[in-house]
Amino acid sequence: MKSLEKTDDMVTLRGMTLRLDPDQYLQAAEILQRGGTVVFPTETVYGLGADATNVAAIQAIFAAKGRPSDNPLIIHLRFSEQIIDFCEDVPRIAYRLMEVFCPGPLTLVLPKKSSIVDSVTAGMNTVAVRFPSHSTAQKILEAAGLPIAAPSANLSGRPSATTWQAVLEDLDGRVDAVVCDRPTEIGLESTVLDLSSGTPMVLRSGAITLEQLQSVEPSIRLRSNMIDSPVDSPANSPGLRHRHYQPRAKVVLCDSPDQFLPTDSKSFAYIGLDSDDFRIQVSMTKHCDDIEEYARTLFDFFRQCDAANIETIGCQRVEEVGLGRAIMDRLRRAAESS
Ligand code: TXA
Ligand code: MG
Repeated sequence: MKSLEKTDDMVTLRGMTLRLDPDQYLQAAEILQRGGTVVFPTETVYGLGADATNVAAIQAIFAAKGRPSDNPLIIHLRFSEQIIDFCEDVPRIAYRLMEVFCPGPLTLVLPKKSSIVDSVTAGMNTVAVRFPSHSTAQKILEAAGLPIAAPSANLSGRPSATTWQAVLEDLDGRVDAVVCDRPTEIGLESTVLDLSSGTPMVLRSGAITLEQLQSVEPSIRLRSNMIDSPVDSPANSPGLRHRHYQPRAKVVLCDSPDQFLPTDSKSFAYIGLDSDDFRIQVSMTKHCDDIEEYARTLFDFFRQCDAANIETIGCQRVEEVGLGRAIMDRLRRAAESS
């Protein structure tokens, strides 16, 4: 792996992406301190990080991803005590939830402090914060000593990257460095919970399930239209206005393999919990033993299908409980207008 060559000007690094080992976290932190962009692993998916206090660094994130500027970023912090540096009016429920679930795959949306750069929050008066549990992410955050804004490390609209190879597929030459660690453990993005007004609402399902959240705070609800029509969602979750998680292949949902029927495509792939009794010839199949494996492998499978020029991917629906809600959310959005 290349090591970091010292330079005073981050701009000179752009156009060439350093590959860093996880034990080179100090170099990763140094690049972040100098306003660079660094992709690092988290327990959910890889994140494309930059200093959340540096306007130019934040602009570099949006440019690297081709992300619409109205879609705000999550700020990643090392310690839960730091929440008061960035959020106003932190309610008691936030502390209770942080005690149980943080560090981990839970993002809290709270009223923001005015010190936060507008481009991070896309001009909203709230900010999303999360405390990753991945040890490499924690080491980088601690060494950098900065709040790090980090969206998922994929080109906008594409499936999130769960391996460093997938990161490079989308972002090689577009970011300053990539920390090449193991594949991510969860494979789907964090649960986003809005605590900024009235009833606490889950805006995006993730690895921390509604059931787990309600066991701590029974008043938590799923945003009502999240399940039925995610595209027509209200402005309080700007990310849902945009295309997401889509492979180049057409994604179709089915209840079982024998319902996966021919279309005018020439090549088919399939992922699900059941994987026999096909009525058509399927060239790539991923059988998942449980929904955790389904979540962990879904985005990588989408990317493998694209690499193999698959035209249609059949995805088995799962029951909308627990982690199944997050899987169904991603599947529906991957299948939208594809
Ligand atoms: O697991 C994750 O959350 C990963 C890892 C890298 O931490 N990050 C991630 O970021 O998925 P991104 O940018 O791909 O998705 C963040 C989501 C978007 O849908 C965005 O609209 C929403 O969080 N979001 C961010 N700030 C928000 C805010 N102030 N209010 C409502 N939604 C917000
Ligand atoms: Mg994303």
